[in-house]
Amino acid sequence: MEVLDEIKAFLGSETPQEWLDLAARPEAMHILLTDHAHCEKKAASTAMTLMFRYVDRPDLLNKMSRLAREELIHFEQVLGLMEARGLAYGHMSPARYAGGLRKDVRTSEPGRLVDVLIIGALIEARSCERFAALAPSLDDELAKFYRSLLKSEGRHYQDYLHLAREYAGEPIDDRIEHFRALEAELIQSEDDEFRFHSGKPSAVLLANPEALVPEAPRSVA
Ligand SMILES: [Fe+2]
Ligand SMILES: [Fe+2]
Repeated sequence: MEVLDEIKAFLGSETPQEWLDLAARPEAMHILLTDHAHCEKKAASTAMTLMFRYVDRPDLLNKMSRLAREELIHFEQVLGLMEARGLAYGHMSPARYAGGLRKDVRTSEPGRLVDVLIIGALIEARSCERFAALAPSLDDELAKFYRSLLKSEGRHYQDYLHLAREYAGEPIDDRIEHFRALEAELIQSEDDEFRFHSGKPSAVLLANPEALVPEAPRSVA
């Protein structure tokens, strides 16, 4: 698949086999799907935040509006899959991933916008790479769903990158390289938590089966 090859080249690093092994364990499915649903919801929310902040950029408004709608559909699809499997959707602490990427976002414009868009491209690209890498070890229904997501997430990656180049007004290769290295470090270094975008499972994580149990669902009054 052409987009997937482009995405792998863009990322420059692959998901560690140790993460894939853990993600393929049946007991990891609940937390994987819960966090996946969170990621879809967060992706829609991030796109809408950009639409509120940059109201004078029509290309951004159109692309982010469509993207937000697609992410919410993905969110509903993951919820549906979870419900069919008797898995409750609940709260979960955020992964270190997005925060780790955002810490280097510039504070002045248009640098801030460009950095957020580059990070958006990386997150979409990594999601794509993980969907493709995970699919062969999942059951048929989930594998089919993850393969179906590749297409739209691949386009999201291209949209983010296109917008970043459009609004930068200067070459952004250095910024891309900076965030690419940061992203690779978050994906390949040891992580004590298991999430959709977590790093290589640490010995602490692997020795703690409780780490794979999502929090019990609770409602906030
Ligand atoms: Fe999505
Ligand atoms: Fe996406």
